[in-house]
Amino acid sequence: MSMKRYRSRTVSMVLCLSVMVFSGAVFSGELSKEKAAPGKNATWTEEAVKENYVMNCAPCHGETGKGNGPLAVESIGGVKPRNLNNAKLMSARTDEELFKATKLGGESVKFFGRMPSWRDTFTDAEIKQLVQYIRKNICKCEYNDKK
Ligand code: HEC
Repeated sequence: MSMKRYRSRTVSMVLCLSVMVFSGAVFSGELSKEKAAPGKNATWTEEAVKENYVMNCAPCHGETGKGNGPLAVESIGGVKPRNLNNAKLMSARTDEELFKATKLGGESVKFFGRMPSWRDTFTDAEIKQLVQYIRKNICKCEYNDKK
């Protein structure tokens, strides 16, 4: 009888400890994902690029890149976020142009400048990964100079 009570207390202590350890692991996993950057951190993954896109670009460009994120509704000064899903348009852009637009903002490539600059948020390596993410996962297109 008393043995049984002792055992269940042990079980709940072990459970409690493993919950603490588990949530600690989840928490630190999340932190390292936020900091993940190629070059800076060998643990960079495709998941981290996706997270960068979803957290920072999707509010305007939308998760699938169609330019219909929640901030697009406010129409940021009447300029619609670009439809990054438009393979025809995006294959007319070089990777360098997409890189420059993302790093320095819309004005740098003679757009309206409603597209913010990401220079202070991401490293060059992270911006290159974002461009690759747009190519691979959003427009599913490469640069094509045949007009
Ligand atoms: C505040 C809304 C907003 C956010 C957030 C935003 N964009 Fe944009 N983006 C725009 C707008 C609007 C344009 C159209 C050009 C302009 O007005 O400057 C644009 C254009 C672009 C272009 C140029 C496309 C072309 O036609 O060559 C690229 C590339 C791009 N965005 C990538 C990104 C990436 C990558 C992120 C996230 C790191 C991002 N954008 C976040 C609003 C946004």
